[in-house]
Amino acid sequence: MKPAKIALIGGDGIGPEVVREGRLLLELVREERNLPLELWELDLGADRYLRDGTTFPAEVRVAIQRECAAVLLGALGDPRVPGMEHARDILFGMRQGYDLFANVRPCRALSDRLVPLKGRGARDVDFVVFRENTEGIYVGMGGQFKRGTPDEVAINEDINTRKGVERIIRTAFEFAKKHGHSVVHMADKSNAMRHAHELWLRVFDQISREYAPDIRGKHVYVDALCLYLIQDPSQFRVIVTNNLFGDIITDLGAALQGGLGMASSANVHGFDAGRVAMFEPVHGSAPDLAGKGAANPFACLLTVGMMLAHLGYPEEEQVIEAAVARAIDERQCTPDVGGTLGTQAAAAWVREEVRQALRALHSTPGRERLAANALPLVPPARAGNLALGPAPSSPSPTSLQGTQRKALRPFPFPGIHCWHCNPP
Ligand code: NAD
Ligand code: IPM
Ligand code: MN
Repeated sequence: MKPAKIALIGGDGIGPEVVREGRLLLELVREERNLPLELWELDLGADRYLRDGTTFPAEVRVAIQRECAAVLLGALGDPRVPGMEHARDILFGMRQGYDLFANVRPCRALSDRLVPLKGRGARDVDFVVFRENTEGIYVGMGGQFKRGTPDEVAINEDINTRKGVERIIRTAFEFAKKHGHSVVHMADKSNAMRHAHELWLRVFDQISREYAPDIRGKHVYVDALCLYLIQDPSQFRVIVTNNLFGDIITDLGAALQGGLGMASSANVHGFDAGRVAMFEPVHGSAPDLAGKGAANPFACLLTVGMMLAHLGYPEEEQVIEAAVARAIDERQCTPDVGGTLGTQAAAAWVREEVRQALRALHSTPGRERLAANALPLVPPARAGNLALGPAPSSPSPTSLQGTQRKALRPFPFPGIHCWHCNPP
């Protein structure tokens, strides 16, 4: 069988430091499980850009698309390139260029002590954000007029297409269905952005009705969502939102799970396993940590887990997540999560755990399972593979009739529970 080819792009700052550990983990899992994986290191990022002007050449973009099953990206962003042009070319070249419309960002605390909220623990932090990844203000449409003068005008267009909104919302509902969740929250700012986000509301209403009564759609303004996420994150399991809000919410979410050093993500074309997908930690290049060997590698290791699950190896992801959880429990980790180890030592500890756990596993060789190609977006294993205590109960259901009766003002989308009219 042809091996699955994985492109590795370290990028900038701490990116190469954490991707190095991601690569070592991939190599270990490949060796232990005899997986048909081929790794392809690419020299892209600020250094390359400053050296020869290369950002994301068309031939590389096409080669990845044609030959690779997945990309592991570290981070992009370098103080020497303040305009971020290389970062945009590479990052958006993949997210938008490969039409990876779903940026799936699980926010899951692996230990009570990582949750910074008073009286809350790991069981309270377990939700997944579906961030629209190809539209919104990220498309780069706009311009500047009379630049540098007192009459200057600067415009960034916010692009929301029916197709784009529908497919990300549907993906969130499908995920909820696969994982047995009964509520999908959609966050927007339709009270201020009446044109763009009225479209989101309308589509959300339509899709909510399709999945009712098993799954209910609940609408929440994004500013209020930030409040509720801090007050009680256990209310949330699946959140769908636009590109910009998804970016912001997932940094907030990362804080709930122990910081950016713990947050993983996948960029996928919905549940389509047949095209290249891109995996990256949520964090950036952390220039303050770069070169110090102090970056937390766990976000990248968990991201490698998501990639393996996507490639058809969900057990391997489980093993990696459990090993990272143990490292946290035993403080075999970097200072940001309460340890004293450096990047390499923390990752090496996890690798050793993974090695032992994989040796204990006995199941079908990976080679055969890749052929099956049954690839969940974020595999069911993530929802319950660790003993974090019972899942909190969902907020009490509100019937649609009740929702409308209690409404303080007309809310013209009967398929959606309106949070601001009917607070939980
Ligand atoms: P950042 O995520 O790099 O860092 C924010 C904070 O989190 C810093 O205090 C940093 O030390 C800490 N942090 C981040 N990753 C960590 C890790 N693995 N271990 C321990 N601590 C960690 O965000 P920023 O400082 O706003 O941005 C720095 C650069 O990265 C900018 O150029 C930005 O545009 C870029 N960026 C890139 C990506 C990406 O490539 N996907 C994501 C976010 C930011
Ligand atoms: C992220 C980052 C990027 C984004 C930046 C670097 C453009 O913050 O991946 O979260 O906004 O998507
Ligand atoms: Mn971000």
